[in-house]
Amino acid sequence: MEAERDTQARPMPRIGDKAPEFKAVTTQGEINFPGDYSGSWVILFSHPADFTPVCTSEFMTFAALEDKFAAANCKLVGLSVDGLYSHIAWLRTIKEKIEYRGMKDIEVKFPLIEDITMSVARTYGMIQPGESTTKAVRAVFFVDPKGMIRAIIYYPLSLGRNFDELYRALIAMQAADAFAIATPADWQPGDDVIVPPAGSCGVAKDRMEGKEEMKCYDWFFCTKALPAEKVFSTILKK
Ligand code: BEZ
Repeated sequence: MEAERDTQARPMPRIGDKAPEFKAVTTQGEINFPGDYSGSWVILFSHPADFTPVCTSEFMTFAALEDKFAAANCKLVGLSVDGLYSHIAWLRTIKEKIEYRGMKDIEVKFPLIEDITMSVARTYGMIQPGESTTKAVRAVFFVDPKGMIRAIIYYPLSLGRNFDELYRALIAMQAADAFAIATPADWQPGDDVIVPPAGSCGVAKDRMEGKEEMKCYDWFFCTKALPAEKVFSTILKK
């Protein structure tokens, strides 16, 4: 009943909303979110608990991919409702003892938020009482350089995230912004992209005159090539 009241009292942030602001203590010092990340993409993600196996495999994977995300102008911020000393002890244990899929001696350098009051987790709808009232679910918030929420993915406690998909989603959203296109099902950089239906007379005229290089199967389904090199040379930081 208490949990029910809580979810009703706080609407969860949605795609297109400004990311709710908060100040937090992390393993890398205090942060102001999303203000400290202005100009960068940031993935804010929650995990259920320190010293648990699925979370450990996820943290090792994210830490191993941190440079790849950084090259795409994306920073990482983790969160759980554990305290700072638990976080520090867990991350030290991961570095000293755990080996997973060839990864070992992994140091987590991105901030991990302590949220023992569940204040941030509640604000971001990471506590989903049907799944757990005491742990955050595996939430992933993509926040863009202007502090807007651009995508949200939730996973249950038992399901480890797919990091190829998180990276693909990031690159796809950046490509959509940079080239004013959309990305079809299962899109990967290098695949054809969707040209949105013409919204202005200028675009419509260019299409009629065949100036835009694309293939139209019907008025609502047009695609064009977008080479992976063009995507990455535009997106990746030099
Ligand atoms: C895990 O990370 O292994 C885990 C955490 C909470 C519930 C179930 C699994």
